[in-house]
Amino acid sequence: MVSQPASRLGSLEALRAQLSAPAAAADSPRPDAATLADEFLLCHCTNVTAGEVREVIQSGEATSFDDVQRCTRAGDGCGKCVPLLGDLVVVELNKVTTR
Ligand code: FES
Repeated sequence: MVSQPASRLGSLEALRAQLSAPAAAADSPRPDAATLADEFLLCHCTNVTAGEVREVIQSGEATSFDDVQRCTRAGDGCGKCVPLLGDLVVVELNKVTTR
């Protein structure tokens, strides 16, 4: 058996902790799209806020999920925001269609 220096084992433990952190975050529940503040940064890849998504829908510029993506570019990066973006689009389109 090869012995490992204590500092190397410490580094491995730190790396293991870093690798497990995103998985834990991914398991957390999505926020409620209906209660997001306009300033909420929805898409970190393209810096799109919930307010910008609401604006393109309420102005009539976007009438579908694809329109919102085309108008704002939200979801054009890693895709991690797409589920919450979809929730917000549904909430906002429902508001527009029930006016
Ligand atoms: S966070 Fe929106 S595409 Fe990455």
